[in-house]
Amino acid sequence: MTSTSRFDRSALGQCLVALALASLAWWLWRWQARPWPAPTPLLQPRVAAGIAIALYAAFCGWIAWRGRTPRIVASVDGASPWRVIYASQTGFALELAERTAQALRDASAMATVHDINSIDLQALDGARCLFVVSTTGEGDPPDHAMDFVKRVMAQPADLQRTRYAVLALGDSEYTQFCAFGRELDEWLHRHGAQPLFDRVDVDNADPAALRHWQHHVGVLTGHTDQPDWTTPRYERWTLATRRLLNPGSVGGEAWHIELQAPAGTSPAWQAGDIAEIGPRNAAGDVDAFIARHVLDGSHVVHRDGEDMPLAELLARSRLSATADVVPDDARALVAALQALPHREYSIASLPADGSLHLLVRLMRREDGSPGIGSGWLCRHAAIGDGIDLRIRSNPNFHAPPASQPMVLIGNGTGLAGLRAHLKARAAIGAHRNWLLFGERNASADRLHGDELDAWQRSGVLERLDLVFSRDGHALRYVQDALHANADTLRSWVEEGAAIYACGSLEGMAPGVDAALNEILGPQRMTDLADAGRYRRDVY
Ligand SMILES: Cc1cc2nc3c(=O)[nH]c(=O)nc-3n(C[C@H](O)[C@H](O)[C@H](O)COP(=O)(O)OP(=O)(O)OC[C@H]3O[C@@H](n4cnc5c(N)ncnc54)[C@H](O)[C@@H]3O)c2cc1C
Ligand SMILES: Cc1cc2nc3c(=O)[nH]c(=O)nc-3n(C[C@H](O)[C@H](O)[C@H](O)COP(=O)(O)O)c2cc1C
Repeated sequence: MTSTSRFDRSALGQCLVALALASLAWWLWRWQARPWPAPTPLLQPRVAAGIAIALYAAFCGWIAWRGRTPRIVASVDGASPWRVIYASQTGFALELAERTAQALRDASAMATVHDINSIDLQALDGARCLFVVSTTGEGDPPDHAMDFVKRVMAQPADLQRTRYAVLALGDSEYTQFCAFGRELDEWLHRHGAQPLFDRVDVDNADPAALRHWQHHVGVLTGHTDQPDWTTPRYERWTLATRRLLNPGSVGGEAWHIELQAPAGTSPAWQAGDIAEIGPRNAAGDVDAFIARHVLDGSHVVHRDGEDMPLAELLARSRLSATADVVPDDARALVAALQALPHREYSIASLPADGSLHLLVRLMRREDGSPGIGSGWLCRHAAIGDGIDLRIRSNPNFHAPPASQPMVLIGNGTGLAGLRAHLKARAAIGAHRNWLLFGERNASADRLHGDELDAWQRSGVLERLDLVFSRDGHALRYVQDALHANADTLRSWVEEGAAIYACGSLEGMAPGVDAALNEILGPQRMTDLADAGRYRRDVY
């Protein structure tokens, strides 16, 4: 039964009662007019009719009062707490699940947040569930949700007593947009679960879609008046250092970048966390746009609650997407401009380093021009320029306990996240670390090579395997190095090691995954993932 039909049934009941009272009043009134013997003083027909009419009026008032609250409350205000269930690869879905639960609690509802992997059919039965799930890979569920998919979604289920909604996070630049959210929604629906409202798909953190979800959650509790969720604001960091790490490489340029926090602030983060950058266009491109369309760059415009010169807004907007015919009216131009999307980078340092380090590959678009985010960081921003940055916690890639050995596997810029982990391990004296790292040529691509050598010498790295794919050796990729050291890997895992992989989704992740499955066996890999001992930060 859907929540709406429940409401309809109770409304029907109310109408029948109202009709019965109205009929009684009418009958008593008519009865007074009949030439029958006078009734006893206790049952004066006019008095009785008055009471019935008063009762009817009170009843109508009560219905009207109930009508103030949203319809759905009638069906969902039971005692069981809301279960907000997340599946998140890089932390955004988790963040939104926590906000959703907080919104429910702010409305005095009970809400608990659950990793999807902790959920079974029993937990779903009769529950009110709000799923917040992202899609990763090529339309895949987040890593930690794989067990739920195999264990729960693969078996027959009767979910008729479950009520649910799905917030599906994704990015329409991927062919399988919001695939996991859609699959989950379809599975719930197919097994009889009752949707509280339609699935909300979120394209690249689109604020309008998030507002839509927030509104629905508000309606569930009768509190639609909460302020809109806003994406955390960027802080203005300063580009302090930029150094090319691979001069002469046949691959794309890889840059070491150091960013200084705004004066007077001490931002906190830990190994595994992500920096979200708000990119800008090259100053030259903004000037050229202004000149081409004969605009006044100093004209102050208003956008997203901020006043700023038009030139500043143009720096943060997609200029190529703006039609060549630019509106004359400044307000229309401001409305037509689309913000550049944010870009994510694994943080390669710790707060104790005094600055936030990144390792960024300069990407090229098809026409050869630099990518939006990497172009801004590696090319367009000048030393001393402000960089819009916000830090996002990524619990999925946080460190294992110090007592656990750690196998770190990466390629290319994947070294960034692993470097932060090695720094954290060095700081706490956890030296059981094995790094397997792959790049192209030893001569040009030993990214942070001196630092890795120093860690090996000082014992922070118990093992270091560097693999170069274009040097003509037998071991070309990190997965080959894993196969060549299969026994060692098995004994590290026996001793409780956690495996962390960071780097390219296409070039490395599937090969490493296959090698680990062959060496350790699929069941062991499932157990490791369930125990949080196999974690990936791949992109
Ligand atoms: C969790 C996470 C962590 C990341 N950490 C890092 C990091 O530490 N260092 C780093 O350099 N990058 C990292 N990235 C990738 C980064 O966010 C950007 O995707 C990358 O810099 C390209 O963006 P762009 O705006 O410069 O290029 P765009 O303007 O988006 O595209 C330029 C060209 O690059 C191609 N391209 C874009 N992204 C990729 C990709 N991932 N793989 C292959 N081709 C691509 C596009 O198809 C296009 O041809 C990370 C991504 C995620 C999700
Ligand atoms: C490596 C990678 C692969 C992705 N693949 C998809 C995809 O196939 N379909 C999609 O809609 N979104 C895809 N996305 C976009 C994410 O779903 C989106 O960024 C989401 O907000 C991430 O949420 P999370 O941090 O909770 O994992 C992908 C993102 C990354 C980094």
